[in-house]
Amino acid sequence: QEQGAVAQLMAAMTLAEKIGQLNLLAAGEGLVTGAGQSTSLSGRLDAGQVGAIFGTKSLASARAMQERALAGSRLKIPLFFAEDVIHGHRTVFPLNIALACSWDMTLIEDTAAFAAAEAAAEGLHLAFAPMIDISRDPRWGRVAEGPGEDPLLAARIAEAATRGFQGQDPAGPGRLAACLKHFVAYGAPQSGRDYDNVSLAWEDLLSIYLPPFEAGIAAGAACVMTAFNAVNKLPMHAHEPLVEGWLRGRAGFAGLVVSDYTGVRELSAHGLGPAPVVVARALQAGIDMDMVGEDYLRELPALAEDGLDAPEAGLSLPASGIVALIDRACRRVLQFKERLGLLDDPFRGLDGTTPAPARQAGRDLARRAAARAAVLLKNDGTLPLSRSARVALIGPMAADRANMLGTWSVSGSARDVVPLHEAVAALTGRAPARAWGANIVDEPWLEQRLNVHGVTVTRDPRPEPELLAEALAAGRAADVIVAAVGEAREHAGESSSVLSPCLPAPQCRLIAALAGLGKPLVVVVFAGRPLALGEVATQADALLYAWHGGVAGPEGVADLLFGAASPAGRLAATLPAHPGQMPLSHAAEPTGRPDPGHFAKFRTGWLDLPDDTRPFPFGFGLGYGRIAYDPPRLSENAAPSDQVVELRVTIRNAGAARMTETAQLYASDPVARVTRPERWLIDFRQVGLGPGESREVVFQVRAEQFRYPVAPALDAVEWLRDPGLIRLHVGPNSRDTQMVELTWLD
Ligand code: IFM
Repeated sequence: QEQGAVAQLMAAMTLAEKIGQLNLLAAGEGLVTGAGQSTSLSGRLDAGQVGAIFGTKSLASARAMQERALAGSRLKIPLFFAEDVIHGHRTVFPLNIALACSWDMTLIEDTAAFAAAEAAAEGLHLAFAPMIDISRDPRWGRVAEGPGEDPLLAARIAEAATRGFQGQDPAGPGRLAACLKHFVAYGAPQSGRDYDNVSLAWEDLLSIYLPPFEAGIAAGAACVMTAFNAVNKLPMHAHEPLVEGWLRGRAGFAGLVVSDYTGVRELSAHGLGPAPVVVARALQAGIDMDMVGEDYLRELPALAEDGLDAPEAGLSLPASGIVALIDRACRRVLQFKERLGLLDDPFRGLDGTTPAPARQAGRDLARRAAARAAVLLKNDGTLPLSRSARVALIGPMAADRANMLGTWSVSGSARDVVPLHEAVAALTGRAPARAWGANIVDEPWLEQRLNVHGVTVTRDPRPEPELLAEALAAGRAADVIVAAVGEAREHAGESSSVLSPCLPAPQCRLIAALAGLGKPLVVVVFAGRPLALGEVATQADALLYAWHGGVAGPEGVADLLFGAASPAGRLAATLPAHPGQMPLSHAAEPTGRPDPGHFAKFRTGWLDLPDDTRPFPFGFGLGYGRIAYDPPRLSENAAPSDQVVELRVTIRNAGAARMTETAQLYASDPVARVTRPERWLIDFRQVGLGPGESREVVFQVRAEQFRYPVAPALDAVEWLRDPGLIRLHVGPNSRDTQMVELTWLD
């Protein structure tokens, strides 16, 4: 016999009231990202047909909706309020892919905690975050919101962000429940096309895409959102083996599963059948709440009355089975509300007693985060700049505000951004010369699509030669040129897939022209995805990848340019040399013909990509110091597999500037039962090193870090490990490493 508030409610609720709890609606005040919009929200509230709302834009609005919901609910069951708190709330931090490049888990936790505090002060209870979709294909625009390409780094980020949002208790003051999304493999669509289906080996799912979810669940995340895509032929909103099977069964997730925006209804477009069928499929798969589509609300009453017999869709469920599924989902919704403290106090978080954190503290954190997230890719010594240098700041991002916020910054305001030219003037005490130089994009139709959520692509209507001439004149008169270029905010983001993730053509032409001046040229790229930089990387004397850095992005960049902060970002995703290389990662599996020197033609590679065109590798990034690694040493060269082996390496800063170094440890397994990745990340450590300082870093190596799945089917998974020789590679990035060998004696 169940006890407690949830059990009591379940016993007292009518079927209609239970179905109402499964309805997750948009407040109609936020971003519309799908076809269905919540209709007649007030009517639904009055009828007790809403379980939760997302997208309220103020405490007052949330409170009013809660009052209305309670009035409409016979049993006074409160709503919970959710929002896309993706990389900050009012204070917008750098994009998640940028934060990932900090490899700094404290920073990531702090930004999530700050965002939670701001959002909680507005009556929100749940963040639709962290987004922990691994992606190895920057054609996919939502790479911007994710943790990059590596499962270990993503798993640590999932833990850190979950801790940041939830603290010890998602119901604690200033905290939110975290929602891990998008379950699962949303970041691996065919050809990088958003929403497209995913076909991959179960082994890849288990070892690449699922570990971040496992980590987030272990960290206590209270919610999971399913993904729009299918995985191996079955859309995730109907994927019972993965949702009920893996997520709940194997990973032990006991929280709430919500659909994505109209994701239940979209099962019909995937070809799974008409509304009653897909509703039953989704409910059976374990999707507890239906976001926006209202298909649960429409279809479940009849299904619960008549059951479903749809042989053409391979589904037959008696009415009692449907009722049991409704009960299961409703119980989970109520348990979630109980965990949030809402069953005790429906106005928890809505009474205005939780103050928002100080805005200035957020700005300071955002500025520090922006500087930490930017990755210095090249520097011939041009950086840092002298504050007395005559700087020409050229390019469409020099005075930009709105694009700096990046995608999915639904509660941020461009007014809060200090643009780069102002940030430089404030730091150096002198205003840089400025020229527009190039438009962000030059295709009018693209401009229109990119402006769909607010105008971020503004144009200078003058012909390009005129813009270039003005830029060149400004460049000629300067000691150093800083080109501020990049992607518009919505050029990377949801449904922002591109065939060629490159810097837009007008800006490439601008950089080529500026390079022709022969002046020191610093290129700062503000982007939402890893771009293939091509010639730009050669033309620049210094190259800083600043991403979309949030409200204080340009100030963080100014700090780096003039040495007020020292670059420490390391790529969380490989930067391709050419767009045709994707998907791409450091953890690719070797082929039988990998050696460029071996055959003239019959080997792995591309005819039209010269061998010496190398991507910027995963983990790469420079600083203003000069880091050297001594040869690594093992505590033993052979060990039984239950022993922890220590790898020690001394790292020196031989330069004159302070550095934060991220020492990275990779593994490879030269002889195994299956092909293993060329190398994979097993650990990393960050150390601060003053000029001339050296530190020893100690890694602990365990046999379990070498386990891999063999899975002919999802329900036939075996985790293996092979005894014998393995290799450990340590260094400042995934390419420039030193190797030691270890033998596991089993
Ligand atoms: O949380 C988002 C999701 O990431 C994409 N679709 C809409 C949801 C709610 O805004």
